[in-house]
Amino acid sequence: MANQERLNVVTGAFGYTGRYITELLLRSGIKVRTLTAHPNRFNPWHQRVEVSPLNFDDPDSLVRSLEGAEVVFNTYWIRFSRGDLTFDRATTNVTSLIDAARQAGVSRLIHISITSADPDSLLPYFRGKGRIEQYLMQSGISYGILRPAIIFGSEDILLNNIAWMLRRFPFFTVPGDGNYRVQPVAVSDLAQLAVDLAAQRQNVCIDAAGPEVFTFDELVDLLARTVASKARIIHVNPSVQLILARMFGLLKRDVTLTRDEIRGLMSDLLVARSQPTAATRLTEWLAGHANLIGVRYRSELSQRA
Ligand SMILES: NC(=O)c1ccc[n+]([C@@H]2O[C@H](COP(=O)([O-])OP(=O)(O)OC[C@H]3O[C@@H](n4cnc5c(N)ncnc54)[C@H](OP(=O)(O)O)[C@@H]3O)[C@@H](O)[C@H]2O)c1
Repeated sequence: MANQERLNVVTGAFGYTGRYITELLLRSGIKVRTLTAHPNRFNPWHQRVEVSPLNFDDPDSLVRSLEGAEVVFNTYWIRFSRGDLTFDRATTNVTSLIDAARQAGVSRLIHISITSADPDSLLPYFRGKGRIEQYLMQSGISYGILRPAIIFGSEDILLNNIAWMLRRFPFFTVPGDGNYRVQPVAVSDLAQLAVDLAAQRQNVCIDAAGPEVFTFDELVDLLARTVASKARIIHVNPSVQLILARMFGLLKRDVTLTRDEIRGLMSDLLVARSQPTAATRLTEWLAGHANLIGVRYRSELSQRA
């Protein structure tokens, strides 16, 4: 089939990872339809990207919105439970999307998960992701699952906001001993892995892992050096960190760090169990973005408005 006739669906093309996947697909001549809860957001691609509302509660319209698509890329997920959008609900939403993709005759589904996803995890984020992986593996649709840990790039929130704090405050607090590890992956590498997996036929579940592993202390130290911060790094009890994060969240009208995120971070879940699958080094990327990272605070909640 000629590329101009090919259609792929990306959930969340106006988001972070979805934007990079969309760019790569468009560059290879594949038409994109995005499903989003924000269909009125500015569409930088104009008519090259069709926009459809993402409505999990209407299975028929969900099926229609996937019809004609060869591949579906799913980036949809939530960072924390809010109002009636719990992790259980988000899990059901993604399983509805998988069902709809099967009914619509989609040939392959590429799903972005997380390192250490586990259906039996005590942490709802990792548990939900694990259950979705299981569901997808048993769905009968050809699949590719990518498990990133922390994704870095110009639109990132977490590392950007750590750098923002390091630029402004005389101290920065780290929960616990700071010896737990993280393995960041570049958003551009993750998107490339996703598009490469779409072109394959076999079922795969792999970590999307960059070449560098840091302890959290090393990561904070790297960010501090990048922005020439003089902030003192102070280790605090995780419950103190949570209180500070909540106070800061109230000031910024945002959710900066949740109890579960602190637990996930400190449980060494954000590292790959296999060899790196991505090449871009955070150290090199930061060197090229030192004047940009942390200049402006990025609010999670304002992105959801
Ligand atoms: N960012 C990271 O460091 C990281 C690390 C590990 C795994 N991941 C996984 O990678 C995938 C992509 O992450 P990302 O950071 O690129 O995500 P994102 O763009 O912020 O969000 C992906 C899509 O999910 C929807 N979404 C996010 N939060 C929502 C909420 N509270 N309510 C309703 N819809 C919501 C958004 O839909 P709209 O189109 O409506 O905005 C968005 O386009 C996710 O599955 C995430 O779990 C991310």
